Order: sequence, then C-alpha cells, then structure tokens
Amino acid sequence: MNLTGTYYKTPTSKGNKACSVMFAGKPAIEWEKVAQSVEMPTRNNCGKCHFYGGGDNVKHGDLSSVLFDPPKDVDVHMSREGEDFTCVTCHVGEAHEWAGSRYEMTVNDEVGTGKPGMPRETASCESCHSAAPHPIDTVEGIKLNTHTSKVACETCHIPEIARGGVATEVDWDWRTMGKLKDGEGFKLKEYTQGDGHHRATYKSIKGSFTYAENLKPMYAWFDGTMNYTTIDTKFDPSKGPIDINSFSGSANDSASRIYPFKKMHTTQPFDKGNNTLVYMSLWGNDDSALWGNYDFGKSIAAGMKKNGIPY
Ligand code: HEC
Ligand code: HEC
Ligand code: HEC
Ligand code: HEC
Repeated sequence: MNLTGTYYKTPTSKGNKACSVMFAGKPAIEWEKVAQSVEMPTRNNCGKCHFYGGGDNVKHGDLSSVLFDPPKDVDVHMSREGEDFTCVTCHVGEAHEWAGSRYEMTVNDEVGTGKPGMPRETASCESCHSAAPHPIDTVEGIKLNTHTSKVACETCHIPEIARGGVATEVDWDWRTMGKLKDGEGFKLKEYTQGDGHHRATYKSIKGSFTYAENLKPMYAWFDGTMNYTTIDTKFDPSKGPIDINSFSGSANDSASRIYPFKKMHTTQPFDKGNNTLVYMSLWGNDDSALWGNYDFGKSIAAGMKKNGIPY
C-alpha cells in the first residue's frame, strides 16, 4: 500500500496554515494508518518527483514513467521480466540519505563487491558487478574488463537515452514566450512521442521546446567535478554560448573516465550589463509577474530587486 500523497494534515493543525487553504475540504490524515503503512520506498515514491520534475522525463532523460513497468530491453534491472529492482535496491539508504553519485561523485568505483545483489552504500555499477564484470574466459571479456578503468559502464551499456516511448527535452527557447491567443496564454502540443502522448512544443508562459527520443548521449572525459553557474558567477557572453553547468576531466587524468551526458541547450535572458544570470519574478498578483503580464523587463527587475542583486 502506498499512502504518501493521498492524506493531508487536519486543516488547522499546527504549522500548516498554507496547507489548510490548499487542502480545504480534503480528508484529514489518519496518522495511525500512516504509521502502520511504513515500508521501503517503492518506485512510485521516488518516481513522483524524479520522473515528473518539469514534466515526464524532461530533465535527466533516463528517469521517466517508463520505469514504472519497463520492458526488459529498456531496463534489465527494473523490468519485471528482469530483476524487478526498485530504485532503492541500488540507491541503498540510511536515515533517509540515499546513496547517489551527484553530490559525492563516484566516477571510478574501484572497490566493488563483485557479488551481484550485494550493493555497498554507493550507487555504482561496480558495487554489485565489480570492476571486472565480463567473463574472463573469452578474449572479448578480458578486453572489455581492461576498458572499465577508462570508460564508464554506462557509456557502453546505455547507448541511448529517452527510450521506451517518453521523450526528453533538449532545447528550451525563452525568446518566444508571451504569445497570446484572444488575449489568453495557450499551449501547442505538436510533438507526438513514442507512446502516443502529445508534448508541448510551445507554452505562452515558457516559450518553445524541442524533444528527442532514443537520443545518443554526448561523450566526454569526466573526473567527477561539476561546475555550476550561479547568480553571482560572471561570464563572458562575447565568446558565444556559455556552459551553465559544465564539468571537468581529461584523457591524461587517471581519475577520469569517458561518461555519457545529456546535453540541454537553452536560450534565456541574462544581465547584459553585469554578465550574470538573472532571477525572474514568475507569479503573483502584481504587475511584475511574468506569468500574467508576459514582460521580461519588469519580471527580471522585480526578481533581482527582491533578492537584492544589482541589475
Ligand atoms: C541498477 C541500479 C539502479 C537502479 C535500479 C536505479 N538507479 Fe539511479 N543510479 C544508479 C547509478 C549507478 C547511478 C550513478 C550514475 C553515474 O554515476 O553515472 C544512478 C544515478 C541516479 C541519479 C543521479 C542523477 C543523474 O545524473 O541522472 C538519480 C537522481 C537516480 N539515479 C535516481 C533513481 C531513481 C528515482 C530510480 C528508480 C526509478 C533509480 N535511480 C534506479 C543506479 C540505479
Ligand atoms: C520530494 C521529491 C523527491 C522525492 C520523493 C525523491 N527525491 Fe531524490 N532528489 C530530489 C531532488 C530535488 C534532488 C536534487 C536534484 C537532482 O539531483 O535532480 C534529488 C536527488 C537525488 C539523487 C542524487 C543524489 C546524489 O547524491 O547524487 C538521488 C540518487 C536520488 N535523489 C534518489 C532518490 C530515491 C532513490 C528516491 C526514493 C527513495 C528519491 N530520490 C525520492 C527530489 C526527490
Ligand atoms: C544492486 C545490484 C546491482 C547494481 C547496482 C547494478 N546491477 Fe546490473 N545486474 C544486477 C543483477 C542481480 C543482474 C542479473 C544477474 C546477472 O546477470 O548478473 C544484473 C544484470 C545486468 C546486466 C545484464 C547481464 C545479462 O546477462 O544480460 C547488465 C549489462 C548490467 N547488469 C549492467 C549494469 C550496469 C551498467 C550498472 C550500473 C548502471 C548495473 N548493472 C548496476 C545487479 C546490479
Ligand atoms: C567498452 C564497452 C563496455 C564497457 C566499458 C563495459 N561493458 Fe559490460 N559489456 C559490454 C559488452 C559488449 C558486453 C557483451 C554483450 C554480449 O555479449 O551480448 C558486456 C556484458 C556485460 C555484462 C554481462 C556479462 C555476462 O556474464 O555475460 C555485464 C553484467 C556487464 N557487461 C556489466 C558492466 C559493468 C558493471 C561495467 C563497468 C564496470 C561494464 N559492463 C563496462 C561492453 C562494455
């Protein structure tokens, strides 16, 4: 049974003012039932956020609703004809901290257990398969094992992303934002993905989107270091497009491996005077909210002012 998300705190309960407005008229949480329903998270618990952030498969390209019940050729581990793993079979958790690899990057997990089904507290392929997973009684297997220190497992084993019928976003162009029909915002759903669902190629509130399926990743040397452009990072726009999130790594570095990446391209406003990214005021009942007045200038000025950042 999975109760998460279907029960709400009693409207006037402590610390719950906003919810009491949002959830007025909804049944109160039956705490006893909740306490009796504690279990390991299912793929639904994790997927509610990780599949749908921004829309189904919009972000990572490899975490979509397809994983609720994937065929074996989409996912050997999560398919019911395969291993029927849930997310937490690999992302082993302790006190609500799930092993991952983005905050504490494991680019080259040389420890491994070598015993399938016995993961350590790191989510890596090696934690179950070891760094030498290929049969050592064939030339092919020996050769493949010598590749694993330089080429990430995912590079060979995930040759395409956005598979199984759900597309991922690859381009977002803010410049077309704000077109109206009869004075109202609208959506155009002109991309039909593999499973027959239509995806929005245009939204008045956000601009234009491009999608891709069965997408070949971009390959690059990666040492586990991500570089993020934050609001106080200055960049040089004269050199053409900038990397909002980049990473480092090189062929000469023994800690780097060739990894697959999903490349996301976007055209968005920035502060031409200070050469920084900008905050926008998106919603609210005032004149500056982009999603109502569709005015970039006003919305950016308000967003920067609210955060006390020069603009
Ligand atoms: C077969 C084991 C396995 C299963 C099952 C699995 N993961 Fe992962 N996951 C990994 C590994 C290994 C990585 C690290 C990849 C890397 O370092 O390149 C990872 C990476 C991630 C990341 C990091 C972000 C990124 O860059 O994509 C997230 C988030 C994530 N997994 C969520 C999930 C969710 C949610 C599920 C269930 C729907 C799930 N995983 C199921 C092994 C697994
Ligand atoms: C309430 C929404 C939410 C739920 C539920 C959720 N996550 Fe996350 N998770 C996030 C956000 C937000 C991040 C950070 C942004 C990102 O990496 O996409 C994150 C990050 C991660 C990462 C990367 C962490 C790292 O150290 O690299 C992993 C792995 C992950 N989640 C796995 C899971 C698993 C497994 C579950 C189910 C047990 C789960 N998440 C449930 C929202 C959620
Ligand atoms: C929680 C342990 C665990 C993790 C983590 C894990 N696997 Fe597996 N994997 C298994 C098990 C168990 C099987 C099925 C038994 C077998 O074939 O070894 C399997 C099967 C496979 C197969 C299919 C083998 C075949 O015979 O068809 C491949 C390929 C594979 N895994 C690659 C990976 C890659 C790549 C990663 C990292 C993204 C990974 N595994 C992470 C446990 C794991
Ligand atoms: C250079 C590409 C490459 C790399 C890197 C790679 N593999 Fe493989 N892997 C293959 C190929 C090719 C096969 C064989 C597929 C076949 O014979 O059908 C294979 C087979 C497998 C199998 C099945 C083995 C069996 O007993 O039949 C597993 C499990 C596996 N790989 C896991 C991994 C893991 C874990 C990593 C990272 C430590 C990894 N692979 C890295 C290409 C690669």
